[in-house]
Amino acid sequence: MRVLGIESSCDETGVAVFDVDAGLLGHSVHSQIDLHATYGGVVPELASRDHIRRLPALVRQVLAESGCTLAQIDAIAYTAGPGLAGALLVGASYAEALGMSLGVPVLPVHHLEGHLLSPLLSADPPEFPFVALLVSGGHTQLMQVTGVGEYVLLGESLDDAAGEAFDKTAKLIGLGYPGGPQLAALAELGHAGRFRLPRPMLKSGDLDFSFSGLKTAVLNVVSGPEWKPEDAADLAADFQDAVVDVLCTKALKALELTGLLRLVVAGGVGANRKLRQRLDAATRRKGWRVYYPEPALCTDNGAMIAFAGGRRMAAGEAPEAACAVRVYPRW
Ligand code: KG4
Ligand code: ZN
Repeated sequence: MRVLGIESSCDETGVAVFDVDAGLLGHSVHSQIDLHATYGGVVPELASRDHIRRLPALVRQVLAESGCTLAQIDAIAYTAGPGLAGALLVGASYAEALGMSLGVPVLPVHHLEGHLLSPLLSADPPEFPFVALLVSGGHTQLMQVTGVGEYVLLGESLDDAAGEAFDKTAKLIGLGYPGGPQLAALAELGHAGRFRLPRPMLKSGDLDFSFSGLKTAVLNVVSGPEWKPEDAADLAADFQDAVVDVLCTKALKALELTGLLRLVVAGGVGANRKLRQRLDAATRRKGWRVYYPEPALCTDNGAMIAFAGGRRMAAGEAPEAACAVRVYPRW
């Protein structure tokens, strides 16, 4: 079974062809970073329009690179949520209309399920069961995963997501969009330890997170009388350390509580080098193992959607209704 995957939940248009037996045949992502950079964040209307502009050409390109024609597509999977309503509608209408014209099933996929399963697309994939740490711009969650579709939420952020905290803090320090990677790059140039930042909920006894207080602590530093912009790299390093401390501590606690041996890290913040170093070192000591998606599949992409949809359909799941455009922005 060959599945065409379509991702358009935010500011990346992603398309992929996944063959349930042969694996990923091709994928490509068009990033809208340049389009939104002047506004300092994603402008939803511009995002939707750009998805409309890019999607048909990207589908043609990925089909050609996959050595595949539309007639050889057996099913379509698209991101139905969560995300920006207008952006989701572009991918959903495109997928449902194409599916209807080809006479193939079309499956709505949860964006986070895509992220969560994305390490299974790597050359050395984890086996089930595992704990997943999902750290994206919109979510911070710990999940117990026993199979495709078998997820138990262990804990999540009660306010800002980790990526959101990176983005908002980057803005406070005066960095551009997208903030997370820029803040991480700046942190590499700084020395941690000068600014005393909190580790929110580190000792809360559960697996929930909170990051908005950390952002406020940074705001207090940069609006204080002693703030000097040349200290930005040190502040970035302290902020990154605080986030990494909390994520790492809670992920290890989740492994301890569940008795599982494998940790999967997915979502944009999973690209953070410091987070990877800390998790790798801490789990090695305990004999546990961490799995990450291939670097190109850390951020939003169509491959993870094609894969999640393909695995679900291969397990017998059928779409509920033909040609119903389903989007769930707050799914
Ligand atoms: O998963 P993703 O591409 O999109 C969502 O589904 O949200 O994640 C994007 C988030 C953004 O908040 C971005 O700032 C953050 O991931 N991010 C990073 C890094 N690379 C991306 N945060 C920290 N360090 C990074 N290296
Ligand atoms: Zn995402």
